[in-house]
Amino acid sequence: MQKLQSIYEGKAKVLYTTEDDGLLIQYFKDDATAFNAQKKGTIHQKGIMNNRIAAKIFEYLSAQGIPTHFVKTLSDREMLVKKVSIVPVEVIVRNRAAGSLCRFLGLAEGTALACPTLEFCYKNDALGDPLINEYHIRALNLATEGEIKEISGMALSINEHLKNFFLKLNIELIDFKLEFGRYNGQIILADEISPDTCRLWEVGTGNKLDKDRFRRDLGNIEQAYQEVLRRVIQ
Ligand SMILES: Nc1ncnc2c1ncn2[C@@H]1O[C@H](COP(=O)(O)OP(=O)(O)OP(=O)(O)O)[C@@H](O)[C@H]1O
Ligand SMILES: [Mg+2]
Repeated sequence: MQKLQSIYEGKAKVLYTTEDDGLLIQYFKDDATAFNAQKKGTIHQKGIMNNRIAAKIFEYLSAQGIPTHFVKTLSDREMLVKKVSIVPVEVIVRNRAAGSLCRFLGLAEGTALACPTLEFCYKNDALGDPLINEYHIRALNLATEGEIKEISGMALSINEHLKNFFLKLNIELIDFKLEFGRYNGQIILADEISPDTCRLWEVGTGNKLDKDRFRRDLGNIEQAYQEVLRRVIQ
């Protein structure tokens, strides 16, 4: 499958059309951004690592009955995916407080949450991806009530599967971001799941194995991604 035309270049990936109208190539870059792109940099070989990590996770989730856009890995940095119409809502699932939730609710980092918690953000760079609720989603016609229910159910189910998946690798899943798309009248998981989009803490040491190392200049960024990859493919 050949790349034809670049249709979207984002912060971390580029999407290309293919000879097949229903399929896109998702190319993973080394570029990293944080804080709504105010902080920019690159992480050596991140694209290669995230392409492999995301592929493994999509394969695992599909085996658990979660529909995803992943079709197959094409190369070091490229995966073939089903072309979806992205629901312009980012879904964040949290198991412990970290990042913006700590600031928002005055919680210490790592505070356990009594239940897995969902947040929605409006995918809108100009507005800085603001936090919204289900009423906003319906009021702005971002998704229907049925779609919100389906997306919420899938996000919580993905959380249970991914918590188990990572725990077996001695990693605790603290939180993560998902994007969903419409495909043939169905909602499927799209975009990526990787150390760019998850907070992953090593069990026992609490070592951060994710993009917080870049956000907070903690050093050993590539090593952390490499470590996640090593465990995920073992
Ligand atoms: N299967 C798919 N079909 C169509 N678009 C997709 C698919 N999977 C992911 N996307 C979209 O492709 C883009 C991937 O690029 P990237 O993650 O670099 O974007 P980004 O910089 O985070 O910007 P954005 O705010 O648009 O998400 C995202 O906009 C994502 O919503
Ligand atoms: Mg993105």
